[in-house]
Amino acid sequence: MIEQEPAFKVSSLKQMVEHVLKEHHEPTRLWIEQAKALLRKAALEDMDSALINKLGMSFQSLAMTMHMHMEKEEEVLFPMFQRIEDGLNTEKFCGGIENPIRVMENEHKELDLHFERIRRITNNFQVTQETTPVVNELYEVLKSIESDLKIHSEREECELFPAAVVREKKIVERRME
Ligand SMILES: [Fe+2]
Ligand SMILES: [Fe+2]
Repeated sequence: MIEQEPAFKVSSLKQMVEHVLKEHHEPTRLWIEQAKALLRKAALEDMDSALINKLGMSFQSLAMTMHMHMEKEEEVLFPMFQRIEDGLNTEKFCGGIENPIRVMENEHKELDLHFERIRRITNNFQVTQETTPVVNELYEVLKSIESDLKIHSEREECELFPAAVVREKKIVERRME
């Protein structure tokens, strides 16, 4: 029996990018807004909470890194993928697609470090008797962002990015024939 490849693997780069945008970038932006609103609420409930203050600062920095990362993918990397899809290589822009991909992969590692910090601050999102419903809800949103980020990064690093590298290599090889 011939095994069927998963749909994601056989799609065009454009379809893969659309999938990443719809399934990961869009919901991440919504969760970030939800987390910001909950953090504001939590801070109003307890202005002196060291936990909320620390968490607020760390989340601010995570959200900024995340927004900038997604913007770079949307405005620089994904348009280059489109170029590759159109049969052109990216050599003259960035010396080959592997270079901007490496930058994005490093940013994925940076995002993981942000979450490690948040897990330290919240003691792995531990809920105690003092945890208010707002903070509990905030933890749930943060956990959603974190678990989706794992799938999001893996999908990019294991499927989308290698697919772009392979396609670009084929374009270069064809030119040299
Ligand atoms: Fe992404
Ligand atoms: Fe990414």
